[in-house]
Amino acid sequence: MDISYESSKTLNRLLQTTDLTHMSKTDYATFTERLGNNFPDLFELLHAVYGTQYDFHFHLQQLIIILSKGLSDRKAALKKKDKQRLKNPRWYSDENMLGMACYVDLFAGDLQALQEKIPYLESLGVTYIHLMPLYKSPEGDSDGGYAVSDYRAVNPKLGNMKDLRALASALSAKGINLVLDFVFNHTSDEHQWAEYAKSGDKEFQNYYWMFDNKDIPNQYEQNLREIFPQVRRGNFTFNNDAQKWVWTTFNSFQWDLNYSNPAVFNAITDEMLFLANVGCDALRLDALAFIWKEMGTNCENQPKAHALIQAFNRCLKIVSPSVVFKSEAIVHPDEVLKYIDKDECELSYNPLLMALIWNSLATRKTKLLTRSMQKSFSIPSECEWVNYARCHDDIGWTFDDDVASSLGINSHDHRHFLNQFYTGRFEGSFAKGVAFAENPVTGDCRVCGSLASLAGLEKALEENDHQLIDNAIKRILLIHSIILSIGGVPLLYSGDELGLLNDYSYESVKSQAHDGRWVHRIGIDDKDIILSEDPSSHFYKISSGLAHMINLRKQYPVFGEALTEIIELGNEHVFAYKRILAGHANKPDSRLFVVCNFSEEKQSIDTSRFFHTTCTDLISNETIQSGTKQMLLKPYQVLWLLRN
Ligand code: GLC
Ligand code: GLC
Repeated sequence: MDISYESSKTLNRLLQTTDLTHMSKTDYATFTERLGNNFPDLFELLHAVYGTQYDFHFHLQQLIIILSKGLSDRKAALKKKDKQRLKNPRWYSDENMLGMACYVDLFAGDLQALQEKIPYLESLGVTYIHLMPLYKSPEGDSDGGYAVSDYRAVNPKLGNMKDLRALASALSAKGINLVLDFVFNHTSDEHQWAEYAKSGDKEFQNYYWMFDNKDIPNQYEQNLREIFPQVRRGNFTFNNDAQKWVWTTFNSFQWDLNYSNPAVFNAITDEMLFLANVGCDALRLDALAFIWKEMGTNCENQPKAHALIQAFNRCLKIVSPSVVFKSEAIVHPDEVLKYIDKDECELSYNPLLMALIWNSLATRKTKLLTRSMQKSFSIPSECEWVNYARCHDDIGWTFDDDVASSLGINSHDHRHFLNQFYTGRFEGSFAKGVAFAENPVTGDCRVCGSLASLAGLEKALEENDHQLIDNAIKRILLIHSIILSIGGVPLLYSGDELGLLNDYSYESVKSQAHDGRWVHRIGIDDKDIILSEDPSSHFYKISSGLAHMINLRKQYPVFGEALTEIIELGNEHVFAYKRILAGHANKPDSRLFVVCNFSEEKQSIDTSRFFHTTCTDLISNETIQSGTKQMLLKPYQVLWLLRN
């Protein structure tokens, strides 16, 4: 089949036979222009997934209607932003970018109160805020909001849609981008679609994966992982109302959507465009690795999952081209990379960097970090990593076993060691963390904890040991220094900017006690902020050290759209990289050389290859003369060497 011929024929037919009279003249012109650019790919992608279904054309026509309405509903201010960003598509690569993720209630109380916190965000330099899921969801345990009952309704405890729209405009007025979750792998079991399915409506039962008995589930089960083995074994849950087994990858109340049904793709596109039209700048694609199920596979990272995400991306490009996708693929590094593309996800979490920074802190060795970054850091130039020290979820050790074994590391044993280390069970560990999702059969687990507690501050404060406190603070700043400089959008998790410690109060909350991730989802109090401003407090050292580096990042374009080269300096405790900005228009050529000492001992490095010209360490403001051959790094010292 000549796909380009067929797609243009199909588009012409669709435009002739679909009622688009609701569109204004300008919208119609924009719509047809963008369809011209994007429909050929959209058609090819959807044809590959749904082309064999007898009613494919019907669903395609429905999709055109959904897209046209999405564009008509888009506010003028957002359309203006679309036009601007089409001219500056790499807005997220700027050195000015700084992200923060938070729960609305824990950070501010509710959406209206969050508006009052905008000055605080500005004082930190935040230009991107990810608000954890704030949609209507079940009472009690809702997996931190990741069980969505209505994408179009805000959780009443946080406010309403009007508040969210007002917040989006207020943030935008201050140059802060809004990131919302697009939880599209599953809905809660209280979503209207699930309610219809429970009541026996076949159309909506087909929105999910529902089975009369366990025959087929058992066949799938042979290859599936268990994500939350502590709450339920297996991936299916029996629903009494429908008398059927339902696919539930995560909690039993999170029902996986059935994307082999084109009606689901369309319905979810409609919800996605609604969220784009609220005024967000990026959508975080939650659990995107799981959306396509294929018998005989582990049902993660399937080719058709990629096709569908690309198709969603085309829909955004037609209706709301200023909005980008952020991939949340916490999977094997090679699979993480496959989601990153200007036509799939422009942004992606960098779970490998995150995990391996922690690994290097525990082992004081950087080989695995260096080799892994040499293999996996490079992504298409139009895309960016979102670099983070930790998020609202657990830390999993998702490094590549082959890279590890080439360095003589036994992955299984090493993961066990890391779990022991970060849950504080390993003697001599500086960390205080909590084990999560412990698998009773394999003994596997993942780790939870705030940045400061995992980096040793909690234990050091308990022991009131000044040397240990000092080391912990240096570790925290070292981590921040990497996420701020290695290339991409740095993303802080709210509370970590202040060095807040684990909060164990979740243990006595019924809906949270079984989920250790709550230990690091910390409430922010004004008194924490005040304490961090008191020069005699340890927290001041963290917040002021961080502020200093943020301030530097924003001054030099080399922290933004530049290339990263990971280098080896021949010292196993040191991690190093270069940032290279090939000058253009208003940005001159620039080179930055970053060196981080991951040990609490001094380390010397051979720098003869690097200092052909004089450099300035931006962090300490010291000058390094050209021709310098050896340098001595202090414990946990970081250098940001800018070539003069
Ligand atoms: C994502 C979220 C996590 C949630 C899961 C299911 O991984 O980050 O918090 O439990 O998806 O939605
Ligand atoms: C698993 C999933 C990831 C999710 C996490 C939640 O690691 O791969 O998507 O965020 O579980 O704990």
